[in-house]
Amino acid sequence: MTPLRSGGSVPGVVEADDLGTYVVKFTGSAQGRKALVAEVIVGELARALGLRFPELVLVHFDPAIADGEPHQEVRDLHAASSGLNLGMDYLPGAKDFTPDLAKVFPVDPLEAGRIVWLDALTVNVDRTVHSSNLMVWPTLGTVPPRLWLIDHGAALVFHHRWDGTDPAKAYDFRHHALGHYGPDVRAADAELAPRVTGELLRRVVAEVPDAWLTDHASPAEAREAYVSYLHARVRASAQWLPTDFPSREELAAEEARRAAKNQQGRPAWLRQVPDLHGKPAAEQDWSVHLG
Ligand SMILES: Nc1ncnc2c1ncn2[C@@H]1O[C@H](COP(=O)(O)OP(=O)(O)O)[C@@H](O)[C@H]1O
Ligand SMILES: [Mg+2]
Repeated sequence: MTPLRSGGSVPGVVEADDLGTYVVKFTGSAQGRKALVAEVIVGELARALGLRFPELVLVHFDPAIADGEPHQEVRDLHAASSGLNLGMDYLPGAKDFTPDLAKVFPVDPLEAGRIVWLDALTVNVDRTVHSSNLMVWPTLGTVPPRLWLIDHGAALVFHHRWDGTDPAKAYDFRHHALGHYGPDVRAADAELAPRVTGELLRRVVAEVPDAWLTDHASPAEAREAYVSYLHARVRASAQWLPTDFPSREELAAEEARRAAKNQQGRPAWLRQVPDLHGKPAAEQDWSVHLG
């Protein structure tokens, strides 16, 4: 139906032959199959822990259905993605959780804590103030809007270097999209860590198609590597539990300092570049270049 250009991987909104509408993440994208592996493992883990995450499906994609796509880059992406791809249930009318929305949308510290905890466990480096990968839905009607998790393609960073990373390693989550809600990560740890058992991890990792597990001698060996890494990491939670979150004011001051430093080295003509955080850049509306 349409490509989505607001993120980096240009997923497509696709109507499938079950008449469902899905956001399809393509195997041929620059992020590659590992991004899809991370989507499945982290998304299904989130769901199993009671967080809101849209249904995932496997989609057989035929590039011919997007024959009318005018942009060569998107056509190339489709051509490289023939066959098995990953679809996520499309949330109609959902809004991106932007910094502006974060100023007014209420989030309970317990819920914020659970989401931060999941991101820290799965080393998801892409749920920041400027790129939240959270959506608010539904936005019409009488049911109150809630937070939904999307896009875990940048999680599980350890699977890019299997031999090199310590499962107990702490990461910098100070710029997490929910940091200023006072996330109660200790409560989340007490509640969720005991639920992430070897059995649950094996069930979640079993959902990944064999064809995407190509790093090891066999898909079974790859599955075991994910299970044992995540199992070791959950048991070491005391070592990576992120607790030091700056307030909204501290974040704004930090941002202002960073922006001022950025400006210093610039020639006069580059000092007026607009701040487009959270809004699409002009370049993403490719039609402006086509006359
Ligand atoms: N399930 C969904 N329902 C509605 N819109 C979605 C859904 N998933 C993604 N989107 C929209 O598409 C954008 C890009 O999707 P995302 O999964 O973040 O991919 P990327 O890898 O490109 O960042 C999101 O920011 C959001 O606006
Ligand atoms: Mg994204």
